Amino acid sequence: MDPRKFRNALGQFPTGVVVATARTQAGELIGMTMSSFNSVSLDPPLILFSVHRKTMSFEAWQSISRYAINVLNEDQEQVSNQFARAGGNKWEDISVLTSASGVPLLPNAAVVFECVNHARYDGGDHEIFLGRVEAMHEHAFTRGRPLVFFEGRYRQLASTATAHAPPPGVELLHGW
Ligand SMILES: Cc1cc2nc3c(=O)[nH]c(=O)nc-3n(C[C@H](O)[C@H](O)[C@H](O)COP(=O)(O)O)c2cc1C
Repeated sequence: MDPRKFRNALGQFPTGVVVATARTQAGELIGMTMSSFNSVSLDPPLILFSVHRKTMSFEAWQSISRYAINVLNEDQEQVSNQFARAGGNKWEDISVLTSASGVPLLPNAAVVFECVNHARYDGGDHEIFLGRVEAMHEHAFTRGRPLVFFEGRYRQLASTATAHAPPPGVELLHGW
């Protein structure tokens, strides 16, 4: 398998962009841009993402039990870049919000899922994190269009893009 070809092929699958945020036991804020976020289960409500083992914050991610998934809006490309710089001062100029359970949240995210760690699995050079969603915050006033990542580039959904709901009888996923 040619790694570059594999990477390019994976880039054919468009995703949104999230920033996972948390506070370590020592009180340090951590955050990481991710495109590996996805939905898993409605009941119980589960989501997943994967973290590369070589990231500087990998050990911190393994040690925390609560985190938030902040889904970025299309105007948050800079936020995505800021939280994707290894070891950088990711929280600079961010007005951190804190949830009732003490998890740091990003302002202006399209939606935020607050999670407790449910399970972690081996995922090769990544580790797969399964989170149980305990709370959701929808910032209705900023809810616009999501930031999209496709072929290694940030994209925006055109307001003129056609949108078709799947017809009756098409099952999206049990219950979705
Ligand atoms: C659009 C985008 C998506 C990314 N998705 C992931 C991901 O799913 N998992 C991951 O481990 N890193 C992902 N990264 C890279 C991390 O954000 C980056 O390595 C981060 O700076 C690691 O921080 P640290 O080394 O300071 O812990 C992504 C980066 C970008 C720009």
